[in-house]
Amino acid sequence: MTLPRVELALLPTPLVRARRLETALGAGPIFLKRDDLTGFGISGNKARPLEFLLGAALAEEADVFVAAGSPSSNFCAAAAMAARVVGLDCHLLFPGEMPSPPSPNVELARVAGAHLVFDVVETRDLLDDAVVEHARSLRAEGRRPYAVPRGGATTTGVLGYANAARELAEQCRAHEVAPRTVVVATGSGGTQAGLVAGQVGCGLRWRLVGASVSRPAQGMTDRILRLSRAGAAALGLEEPTADHVDVRDCRGAGFGVASAEDRISARLALAHEGLLLDDYYGAKAMTLLRTLLTAGAETPAVFWHTGGVAAALTALTGAAS
Ligand SMILES: Cc1ncc(COP(=O)(O)O)c(C=O)c1O
Repeated sequence: MTLPRVELALLPTPLVRARRLETALGAGPIFLKRDDLTGFGISGNKARPLEFLLGAALAEEADVFVAAGSPSSNFCAAAAMAARVVGLDCHLLFPGEMPSPPSPNVELARVAGAHLVFDVVETRDLLDDAVVEHARSLRAEGRRPYAVPRGGATTTGVLGYANAARELAEQCRAHEVAPRTVVVATGSGGTQAGLVAGQVGCGLRWRLVGASVSRPAQGMTDRILRLSRAGAAALGLEEPTADHVDVRDCRGAGFGVASAEDRISARLALAHEGLLLDDYYGAKAMTLLRTLLTAGAETPAVFWHTGGVAAALTALTGAAS
């Protein structure tokens, strides 16, 4: 089945063995799936869903892409760049006031030409309703909006990671590796849902574990199951069941707040593999991988690096993210 898609990412992203990290952790084999290197701006994992979301927007003849997130949102910055590249306007909604100085991702979106709307709602959890409302008022003005919730986590958005699961499987086959554990950071759930749909659809037998960084595990599990089933149905694949969705609560002290262990994770990844891990996603996912390995998780393991470069750099320099 061919679904509308625009090309943004440089695929496949590399799969590399992390031998120095293995030595440091006393466990392995560990592989890194380098989706921090998707090659479109610094979009990381967000390039894959945007290929399908913008493909759908163009197929529907939309003229403006509407999205929302926190000022640190990688998705918003990536959406702004991607929408402009394919010739669409982009409206981005943010909670609260514009941070001063602006975060790198807000600045990227602004320079890309997005229309930024601050103070739409007070808190992030109200943004998805605000997106629907904003799209309604654009329609009333005669515009043709394509609106997506936070993180682009829709049935269409998950298609990118359904393909990514197959991509990993093909690379593993070429490396003659059969991964047993795969760890990924989970925010809106679109990435993990796509991976679940692709994994089940292709009969892949690894255990995928998501590090939920902003929402409680139970709610995320239900959400990911629902999204993965919808994605599987759209692709004509076998539908996942609850057994396929494993989400761990990795919020710690809060979204973007690194624990002492997360700091160790980020330092280990930087010093041993040259990886930049941010406090919102990457460091927490690496802490989960370390915890699972200590508890005897089966290897080979794959750490799915989802990006977050802007926040990783700003955390190092102490600037606002
Ligand atoms: C760097 C990074 N990693 C992981 C995620 C989580 O992806 P998802 O929202 O699809 O769960 C995001 C989401 O914004 C992200 O920016």
